[in-house]
Amino acid sequence: PALGVVLVAAGKGERLGAQTPKAFVELSGSTLIEHCVRAICALPHSGHLVVVVPDSHAAQALSIVEGVSHLTDGWEISVIPGGRERHESVRFGLSALSDHIEIALIHDAARPLTPTDQFERVGAEVHRTGKPVIPALAVVDTVKRVGADGAVHETVDRSSLVSVQTPQGFPRELISAAHETLRDASNEADAPTDDAEVVQRAGATVLTVPGDPLAHKLTTPADLRLLEALLRVRSE
Ligand code: CTP
Ligand code: MG
Repeated sequence: PALGVVLVAAGKGERLGAQTPKAFVELSGSTLIEHCVRAICALPHSGHLVVVVPDSHAAQALSIVEGVSHLTDGWEISVIPGGRERHESVRFGLSALSDHIEIALIHDAARPLTPTDQFERVGAEVHRTGKPVIPALAVVDTVKRVGADGAVHETVDRSSLVSVQTPQGFPRELISAAHETLRDASNEADAPTDDAEVVQRAGATVLTVPGDPLAHKLTTPADLRLLEALLRVRSE
């Protein structure tokens, strides 16, 4: 089935607090966008990649994509402007996918070291089951619920908890329709924090496959140091 990937890279990166939008920050000499494009275009079958960026950074994104053109053979790559909220950027990305795309993977540029095989694992499971699929990791720390004052209320049973990553994979029509419904319902106070939540609200069952610690998300400056270390370990 024809594969489409929406790479959302249109956020500001306020919590990181860098000079540029987060997706344009460099990790060991390459922007987060470049790391992601390399991983995606190393998939065994090519498809359509839509990179969603801040309007102000479209030209820079195009030149990043151009710079790795020797690695993106067979891929159709589009660069489009994003929205104010992540779910808007995703909706714009989905509507920019070619009509023939049947499976859509949605990936955060903020997870630059996500291995190619995680994209493969998610895509293959969507193909096998026809259902939404997300990568998940068991929660290993003890988890507690606390009050506004930081005082502990209770320990939460972690045996049924996972933390989830991207790419998240979907039958294309299902995710596109769910995002259109969300737009119509638009209630910013209750915005979904991932795409699996968007299809779940529409009644779909979401499956999980194993995630990977390398898919760690860059949120704060401390994550930058952690990712630099992970990159060194990966290339040893
Ligand atoms: N994103 C996007 N469009 C937005 C907001 C976020 O495409 N309007 C993307 C980000 O670029 C990122 C992913 O969604 O790849 C996950 O968002 P997050 O980690 O929150 O990134 P930012 O919104 O950029 O960071 P912050 O919330 O700290 O400002
Ligand atoms: Mg954000």
